[in-house]
Formats: sequence, structure tokens, C-alpha cells
Amino acid sequence: MFKIAVLVSGGGSNLQSIIDSIENGYLNCCVEYVISDKKGIYALERAEKHNIKNMALDKKELGANLSDEILKIIDGKVDLIVLAGYLSILKGELLNKFKNKIINIHPALIPSFCGAGMYGIKVHQKAIEYGVKIAGCTVHFVDEGTDTGIIILQKAVEVKDSDNAEELQQRVLVQEHIALPEAIKLISENRILIEGRKARIIN
Ligand code: GRF
Repeated sequence: MFKIAVLVSGGGSNLQSIIDSIENGYLNCCVEYVISDKKGIYALERAEKHNIKNMALDKKELGANLSDEILKIIDGKVDLIVLAGYLSILKGELLNKFKNKIINIHPALIPSFCGAGMYGIKVHQKAIEYGVKIAGCTVHFVDEGTDTGIIILQKAVEVKDSDNAEELQQRVLVQEHIALPEAIKLISENRILIEGRKARIIN
């Protein structure tokens, strides 16, 4: 069984899309752990409701040791780490041991509107301010940078002249909930071939 750990920092709607995709048979994998970088977030309640092992690490308390603490929990126990609304930057041995085995969902079409400080509603505010006509989301492998890893999947949405940031966020979120399970499925079925900076999907 393909085992995943899901890292979260917020409401967990992307975690819920993974759980739903497993329960409806789309994904043949198991969420072994849900790990957050702070206490009291709704994503942990979602995990609890589905009897998934979950724990809150305190990023303030752990500081630079956060990634090492995550590695201690999951090392040797999962095949893939999924960042689903996770806001802390991973570093150190975790990135080495899980090279091309960590993926992230970003609510924009990378390389637009990404990088340090670009998360949540801010991403959509910048897109609206810039006047883009197309927005969307990106699933990518995680490397030592911020939103700089190899792109796996992207989904585009129309930006309407009347949109505000919240309306655009909701439209993108619908596509996130499709893209992330799709990327997990491809990886679990070993259908991603990495060639240099490119990820090729093998049908
Ligand atoms: C989503 O927009 C996701 O793209 C970003 O964090 C936001 C919240 O995600 N990484 P969730 O509802 O906590 O899954």
C-alpha cells in the first residue's frame, strides 16, 4: 500500500480532498500521518474524524529543528510527503532523504505569484492587482527553495473582471482539490518520469 504523510498548517481542505479520494476509491493509498506545525488547526480535526494518526509540532518551540522532528516521525514509514496548505519551509536531512518524494500544492501558476511570503489570499490579491486573465494552481516537487521544485501538474482557471481575491481563491481551490489527488495517483502508480527540470507523465 502506498503510504503518505500529509503536512498541514490550516483548514485542511486539501487534506480532505485526499481523504475523500481514498474513500471513494480514486486513490489506492493510505494517509499514515497528518502532521501540523501548529496546534488547534481544523486540519487536525479532519484527521481525527477519519482516525488518522495526527500530531501538532510547535514551530515556535522547535524552530530550526522542525524538519528533523518530522523526519524522526516518518523516516522509513511513508513513500511520499504531501504539503497541503503547509507554511513552514522544509530543510536539511529531510529534503535529502525524501528527494523527489515531497510534493506541494501552490495556489498559482508557478513561476507567477510564488516564492517567499506568497501564500493564502495574498497570492490571489496579487493576481487580481496584476490583471491576469488566467490563474490556477501548481503541484510541484519540493526542493531546497520556495516553490522552485519541478512542476508535476497545473490547472488553470479564468479570472473574471468582476472577481475579488476571495472569489478567485475559491475557484482555484476547486482545481487544487482535483490536482493534488491526481498528482498523488500518478506518483503512487510510478507514472512520473523526471528528465532534468521536467516531469513527464507516462500513460
Ligand atoms: C490552499 O490555497 C493551498 O493552495 C495553500 O494553502 C491553502 C489552504 O489550504 N498551500 P488548506 O485548505 O489548508 O488545504
